[in-house]
Amino acid sequence: MKPLSVTLPAIGLRVMWTYIATGLAIFLLMLLVGISMRGSQAGWWTIEPGTFYSLLSLHGIGMLTAMVVAGLGTLWYLVSRETGLDARVAYLAYAFFVAGVACVIVSIVPGHYGALWSMLYPLPFTGTYWPTWATGAWLVGTALVMLGFMIWCGQILGALLARYGGLGGVLAVDYVLHNRAFAKLDHEPPPPQIFAAAITAIDGLIAGTAGLTVGVALIVRWLDPTVAIDPLWAKNLTYLFGHTFANLTMYMAVAGIYVGLPICTRRAYHTSVPLVLAWWGTLLFVIIAYFHHLYMDFVQAESLKLVGELASFLAAIPVVVITVYGAVLLVHRSGMRWTLGSMFLFTGLIGWVVGGAAAVLDSTIPFNVDLHNTLWVPAHFHTYLLEGVVLFTLGWVFVNLEQRAGASSGALIRWLAGLGVFGGGALFVLGFYIAGAAGVPRRYAVEPPPGPYLAGIATVGAILVLVGLLVVAYEALRLARLPRSEVAP
Ligand code: HEM
Repeated sequence: MKPLSVTLPAIGLRVMWTYIATGLAIFLLMLLVGISMRGSQAGWWTIEPGTFYSLLSLHGIGMLTAMVVAGLGTLWYLVSRETGLDARVAYLAYAFFVAGVACVIVSIVPGHYGALWSMLYPLPFTGTYWPTWATGAWLVGTALVMLGFMIWCGQILGALLARYGGLGGVLAVDYVLHNRAFAKLDHEPPPPQIFAAAITAIDGLIAGTAGLTVGVALIVRWLDPTVAIDPLWAKNLTYLFGHTFANLTMYMAVAGIYVGLPICTRRAYHTSVPLVLAWWGTLLFVIIAYFHHLYMDFVQAESLKLVGELASFLAAIPVVVITVYGAVLLVHRSGMRWTLGSMFLFTGLIGWVVGGAAAVLDSTIPFNVDLHNTLWVPAHFHTYLLEGVVLFTLGWVFVNLEQRAGASSGALIRWLAGLGVFGGGALFVLGFYIAGAAGVPRRYAVEPPPGPYLAGIATVGAILVLVGLLVVAYEALRLARLPRSEVAP
């Protein structure tokens, strides 16, 4: 099926770079917040607990929003190459993100909100040490972020449904179920990156609806303290949104692999039946995997916990295995040159696999009994976020910059960036893993031993990440200022 019209590349690129630059700027700011918290847990300096929880609230939502914004920008551009998209809608969604981030910042500075990003009712209202208006600013801010996200999802899903002739076409149902007839008719399934966009849009709309439902209920409770909310209902909706929002960052960024790695290897990444089936699994299971956050809730039905365990395995494993397998085949004997772009894309796969395996382990009920709410949890999600999503994003950025300038970085820069971002990152997450395995609790401003000692080692790793990223930023600016040699991918 041929597209009716396609957005002009210049418009698509402008939207993409606006989103990516904003996402990376927020990311760098939140990185400094992260280092200040880890150093304080190490006892290198003192952040008073109230301020620590405010910073932790800001860091959690800020980092995830940063990665979502960068990922949505990339996907918007990739979808715009297949079908016409109105850039004004993308900028409208962007305005909601910016307004949301501004409200959240005000709730922290000067508001001192500190009930964390996945706050559990009645927490934002009882036992607070911040003024009530700060809770309101936080709730309105997060609701604006969700609205921006849903505007994006609505636009992309609508465009894909029109482009591929309905949901069956977008999800390549005929390609999988009637493969021979499909091939005889010379039809083409959507390219791999379209599955990343479609699954983000569909699951994003479901998760956003859940998030806004509980968000509006909390805003009503904030306006009228006599309104009562069922805590179990609130927790289910909060995690349905929170888990999905955080997980989708990975599925967004993986589009960089599908489009970026073929440019580096000069080979094509084709849609295959196993790839489509894996994405169907992700579509269905990401949305119900959140039940694994409620293993300890005795009032939650036992059967839902088993659903959560099974869904955690099925959401992650098929798509990781097939994407990584496909990527390794693409690279194998391709003669690919190691540039910053290819290096980040490839090492991102390692972070995705390691973090994913640690997460699946944590979602297995007998392990969760020990690992629940320990530092094992930030260990696994920092691995696939910092060493997966961030690296996929940087890889995609550099593939674009290198392609555009027809140049790449020298060996010294590559070593410095690699040692800092990947080596320092490994040291940073190792501190969380060992502390988690030793039972050190997460979300503690002051940790019991051996937490502070391991936090010290982790802080060294985090500072190395910062140094590596400064080298990366310098190199990105250098490449961006070179004269244009080729069109962007
Ligand atoms: C070197 C970079 C980073 C540093 C130093 C850092 C530091 C930290 C620290 C110290 C915590 C608190 C852990 C605890 O005691 O529970 C934390 C939590 C968190 N971080 Fe990071 N982080 C970094 C990168 C990232 C990235 C890239 C993301 C996401 C893309 C991220 C997302 C989060 C989230 C969602 C939380 C949990 C917040 C909560 O518990 O409510 N971080 N981080």
